Amino acid sequence: MKKRRVVILGATGSIGQSAAKVAHDIPDRMEIVGMSGNRNLAKLGELSARFPHAALCTTCPRTAVPADLDPLVRHRGEEGLIELATLPGADLVLIAIVGTGGLKPALAAIEAGKDIAVASKEILVMAGEAVMEAARRKGVKVLPVDSEHNAIFQCLEGRESSEVRRLILTASGGPFRKLPAEQLAHVTREQALRHPTWNMGEKITIDSATLFNKGLEMIEARWLFDVEMGRVDVVVHPQSIVHSMVEFVDGSVLAQLSHSDMCFPIQYAVTWPERVPNSLRPLDFAELSRLDFEAPRHADFPALGLAREAGERGGTLPAVLNAANEVAVAAFLEGRIPFPCIWETVAHVMHRHAPVAEPGLDDILRADCEARAAAEGFVSTPQ
Ligand SMILES: NC(=O)c1ccc[n+]([C@@H]2O[C@H](COP(=O)([O-])OP(=O)(O)OC[C@H]3O[C@@H](n4cnc5c(N)ncnc54)[C@H](OP(=O)(O)O)[C@@H]3O)[C@@H](O)[C@H]2O)c1
Repeated sequence: MKKRRVVILGATGSIGQSAAKVAHDIPDRMEIVGMSGNRNLAKLGELSARFPHAALCTTCPRTAVPADLDPLVRHRGEEGLIELATLPGADLVLIAIVGTGGLKPALAAIEAGKDIAVASKEILVMAGEAVMEAARRKGVKVLPVDSEHNAIFQCLEGRESSEVRRLILTASGGPFRKLPAEQLAHVTREQALRHPTWNMGEKITIDSATLFNKGLEMIEARWLFDVEMGRVDVVVHPQSIVHSMVEFVDGSVLAQLSHSDMCFPIQYAVTWPERVPNSLRPLDFAELSRLDFEAPRHADFPALGLAREAGERGGTLPAVLNAANEVAVAAFLEGRIPFPCIWETVAHVMHRHAPVAEPGLDDILRADCEARAAAEGFVSTPQ
């Protein structure tokens, strides 16, 4: 039984804290050797007290490091994040930074021969081909942490892409699953942040409400499992118990089920290919009593269509979708735009972009930057 020495980039966030719980639960299999925080340095201090041997990195240049933590912080800024991602002695790097800030450290970790566990779906949306190609070249593993992709990973167990008819991602449907379309223009930040089944960071919670989260996951699945977009489907499953499914070419469907707790997929990424006991709450089927499934409301929630288009046309377009969405979500959270304007911003920016085919990292970063500027322009202009 191998003990994984794990670096957590984004340790102070929701995923990072779940990873800390897993490390506490299975100490024989997981040791945290590095942790980064951006602005929540009180949380980084708490985590450091629990895992005193972990190297620390702070990334936000504008956030003062508390005096008691300062002497313990050996890595700082973007460079510090790369140092942490390539820490000698670490063998797995968990990328749990919200947005695209984890891309360069993820590529650095791969170059240093480390396996990566990816929660930050944005980096696979933006540069999935580059990340997967680098991992293949270096012979390292990309382990999915997103619950849907972790579920598919468990169902596939190394099966060939040619044996798969469809990957079926489940979506909770978010807080507005049943809201009449005309009321979507009036939803508030607080309503959008009230996710029915998952407790997560703000960005992903808004993405779940618009369904962009599922759209990003469709593109993430395309790269992680090497299937074209036409074989990636979405079904709404409000209970969030079935985390996703694989339909094979012979018509059999395998699914993975558990309570909605990110500790499950994080643990599997850490102990893969083995399974080990833990203290997580098991499913009680009699208590569940029913599992519902329904088609997504494609016309009222345009995120899925936009993501399918971006994934199919490819090139730099997924990076553009992702960047425009990040800007629009931030604007919505700041109260600058109404909820449906998140979709409008992404559509506007995507449809004015001329995608670069087979992009290098520079093309992707340029497209990301231009899309952010275009999205900022759109959200700042009264419609
Ligand atoms: N939460 C979930 O259940 C869940 C499930 C599946 C996938 N994911 C994905 O996992 C990622 C993290 O989600 P989350 O919910 O854990 O987000 P979160 O709670 O907002 O945490 C984000 C983490 O990233 C750090 N961070 C923020 N901006 C940064 C920057 N510019 N540079 C470096 N670090 C930065 C934050 O530091 P501070 O807090 O110290 O500022 C925090 O540690 C996202 O990509 C999300 O889509 C999350």
